[in-house]
Amino acid sequence: MDNETVNTGAADKKKRIFSGVQPSGNITLGNYLGAIKNWVALQDEYECIYAMMDMHTITVRQTPAELRKRTLELLALYIACGIDPEKCILFIQSQNSAHAELGWVLDCYTYMGELQRMTQFKDKSARHADNINAGLFTYPVLMAADILLYQTDYVPVGIDQMQHIEICRDIAQRFNALYGNVFTIPEGLLVKSGAKIMSLQEPTKKMSKSDPNPKAFISMMDDFGSIAKKIKSAVTDSEGVIEYRPEDDTKAGINNLISIMAAVTGKKPEEIVSEYSGQGYGTFKSDVAEAVVEAVRPIRGEYDRIIKDKEYLRGVYRNGAETAHRIADRTLKKVYKKVGFVID
Ligand code: TRP
Repeated sequence: MDNETVNTGAADKKKRIFSGVQPSGNITLGNYLGAIKNWVALQDEYECIYAMMDMHTITVRQTPAELRKRTLELLALYIACGIDPEKCILFIQSQNSAHAELGWVLDCYTYMGELQRMTQFKDKSARHADNINAGLFTYPVLMAADILLYQTDYVPVGIDQMQHIEICRDIAQRFNALYGNVFTIPEGLLVKSGAKIMSLQEPTKKMSKSDPNPKAFISMMDDFGSIAKKIKSAVTDSEGVIEYRPEDDTKAGINNLISIMAAVTGKKPEEIVSEYSGQGYGTFKSDVAEAVVEAVRPIRGEYDRIIKDKEYLRGVYRNGAETAHRIADRTLKKVYKKVGFVID
């Protein structure tokens, strides 16, 4: 009867990590260096569950064929980056019905006022004024369900998602206060070692896949020639010295190139600065371009191989969905019982 421990068999119970990403655009070099690379590092120490959040993506209108294609591309890219389906659970959100089911229950334990305060809702409804749908409004509740279904300990996310982690904790605590210990209260994990990669054109802004200027970001799918070109045309300054001064915005362009170089080579910014002291921006940019291309090359090689192997990919996400569903269903059943649904 006791289904408390989800992780059976393991001698020492690893803490569990859950995170998700929306298949809504191209993954950038910034996403890779700032997030995915860290997720790879976490997979030995934690039990990791990573999902493609396609249900969240439809809160903004999508082209169906493209959403389907990008979901598979994203999965292939994750695997190519080193997320190992043998070590982690990798799945597609819509293939696990428990997310929608718990989402509904939690909708009934979340207040309109709380959701109205969410900055992402305010931003997105301003940007998509023609489609302020109820899903956009309850987006954080579905996200809370994603996390709580797995009795998650840590959620590695960017700073922009912290408000969502907070509301998830509030909902979980409210539910637990009413019904006992149903949910583990998760913590956000701001991965500090992750490099913060900025726009190549406006280096005080974060590199974003939705930037209207394609020269501002490097997609992991860009061909090598354009990667090099974008780096060589990155905005810098007229001072002409290669120095790392993170607190000085006039150096934002050079700081960013140094961060990128540091992230792809594993060197410290100071080492890079001393290596290039007295050199011009032109030489430095060429070397950064080459280093980035060399970092992306093996990932792309893997990606090209994996994306063609539809059977393998299908095996990964089917398997992932099955395992995810098994874990999630335990939490869901507990919740259903607590709220008074007939569950047998
Ligand atoms: N909202 C997240 C983003 O846009 C994606 C996401 C959905 C997520 N569900 C999640 C992230 C659960 C972490 C955990 O980046």
